Amino acid sequence: ALISLRQLLDHAAERGYGVPAFNVNNLEQMRAIMEAADQTDSPVIVQASAGARKYAGAPFLRHLILAAVEEFPHIPVVMHQDHGTSPAVCQRSIQLGFSSVMMDGSLGEDGKTPTDYDYNVTVTRRTVEMAHACGVSVEGELGCLGSLETGMAGEEDGIGAVGKLGHDQLLTDPEEAADFVKATRVDALAIAIGTSHGAYKFTKPPTGDTLSISRIKEIHARIPDTHLVMHGSSSVPQEWLEIINEFGGEIPETYGVPVEEIVEGIKHGVRKVNIDTDLRLVSTGAVRRFLARNPAELDPRKYLKETVSAMREVCIARYEAFGTAGNA
Ligand code: G3H
Ligand code: 13P
Ligand code: ZN
Repeated sequence: ALISLRQLLDHAAERGYGVPAFNVNNLEQMRAIMEAADQTDSPVIVQASAGARKYAGAPFLRHLILAAVEEFPHIPVVMHQDHGTSPAVCQRSIQLGFSSVMMDGSLGEDGKTPTDYDYNVTVTRRTVEMAHACGVSVEGELGCLGSLETGMAGEEDGIGAVGKLGHDQLLTDPEEAADFVKATRVDALAIAIGTSHGAYKFTKPPTGDTLSISRIKEIHARIPDTHLVMHGSSSVPQEWLEIINEFGGEIPETYGVPVEEIVEGIKHGVRKVNIDTDLRLVSTGAVRRFLARNPAELDPRKYLKETVSAMREVCIARYEAFGTAGNA
């Protein structure tokens, strides 16, 4: 059944687990996520980005998610809109039947330019009023995603901030977070702790200086009843980078957010963990490997099937590590 983000995260907080929120763009991702949830008895959050809506079209995405609900009626599913850039964007998703929306007021309508605090409060509160009147949940964001090493936001996905970000923008302030939640009444709060979108998060395995799990603890201590969200939480599996590069790819050395650090966050209020890049990486690796080994194959179903099984394994691993398994 379709449920709201608030319903799911309240349950997760009660039982102390986290839920991966996977981005969906196509049938194969949707199948992988649902089959993994079915196998592990996990509730599901699937989210559609602006890029996904552009790629597949909002009606196709919506029906893909509704098809999942139809085929797996015993699995609770949150249909979430990722990174809305304005209340109007969120309103369209609410009208389409999404059960949850993110109003990302940390960046302006271009999805790039950092905004000031008052702007963020205003657009987020407006979205909450509209969404709550429809029984839809809202995720807000305070602080900008970006690297504590370089001050740069993740590139490649088009939602990175322009220019260099200051240290104070890259780490959410606990006091301001308390104020923001009170002023906007968001159901969940995305925080900045040094992660960024895409595959290039850290040039070496992260340490406490580049990935601030301690900041999560400080925020959770200040607002223990707020569900926290970690964006940019792909782990960038090294074994899949090797597979991609072994079969013709050229991905430079790079590191993601280790699963054990996310698990530590979940012990301190993190309830939603956004993952997109990991599914992209393993899909690319699976296709490259299959086509390199089967150069005469021309049926796309053959290689797309490989992407489903590779993504399904990642989803199962996250459902198990985050404690989502057994909670559907
Ligand atoms: O929020 C970031 C996701 O990775 C979505 O990226 O806009 O390329 O679909 P996208
Ligand atoms: P990754 O790029 O780390 O998968 O993050 C995805 C995300 O935060 C989507 O909102
Ligand atoms: Zn994000």
